[in-house]
Amino acid sequence: MTIVNSIEELFAQTAQFNGSIGFVPTMGALHEGHLSLIRQARKNNDFVVVSIFVNPTQFLEGEDLDAYPRKEEADAKICELAGVDVLFMPNTKMMYEADELSITAPAIRGFILEGTKRPSHFDGMLQVVMKLLNLIAYNKPTAFRAYFGKKDAQQLALIMQMVKNYFINVDVVPCDIVRDSDGLALSSRNVYLSKEERIKALALSRSLKKATELVMQKEFKVEVIKEAMFEVLNEVDVEYVALVNRQFQALDEVEIGNTIILVAGVVGTTRLIDNLWI
Ligand code: PAF
Repeated sequence: MTIVNSIEELFAQTAQFNGSIGFVPTMGALHEGHLSLIRQARKNNDFVVVSIFVNPTQFLEGEDLDAYPRKEEADAKICELAGVDVLFMPNTKMMYEADELSITAPAIRGFILEGTKRPSHFDGMLQVVMKLLNLIAYNKPTAFRAYFGKKDAQQLALIMQMVKNYFINVDVVPCDIVRDSDGLALSSRNVYLSKEERIKALALSRSLKKATELVMQKEFKVEVIKEAMFEVLNEVDVEYVALVNRQFQALDEVEIGNTIILVAGVVGTTRLIDNLWI
């Protein structure tokens, strides 16, 4: 594996690639969830590139940018063991100019749910993903695939929309959520949870399980499902529970094969999200 810290070095590496590239963009603090993306990229491509960049433009004032877990050495080891070819770790100065044009998330999908609580988060996220996609594919691979987790469902939907709207030549590959054995969806932010908070945090995945049970019993009414989920979530400071279709439009009734159930809440001081695709 080659670690590259500059755009020039990245281009020198990708110029030598003669095949497909699988790309996994990350902000580091890698866990089993990221590994599953890397494994899928490894399986389906000739070359695998991972980026680690804690992107400042997607953090809001007062969020955990400075405290965001940084584990560069461990991350590099994980990438190496997973068979990554190039690990790209740029810094902010090489990724951004002081005064740049920007991307704005679309009005409806960008400003509901995560967008309500974190205005401008998605603009910054889309901006850096666009930059990274352009950088990794700069030397025109025979095929270019980028891997994103379904855990950030709204992020995934917006990236797919950006790729479509800007005619970006990449296949976006959505990957399933990875959970710990107790059901907690893996997240780099789980390290912030104390033992007691971790137990409380399990209510998020339990509420989704409850929703599935209801759907399996043919209860499709969104209001009924939401109420049952709120009951399970009684010890969580819930930000939202939502049932939307794959286009992130609100639903009155579950549509099997086209529904995402989303939950976000704060446990202690840690904000957590989870979702289920049915
Ligand atoms: O999901 C993430 O880790 C980030 O939002 C991403 C896609 C790497 C962009 O910074």
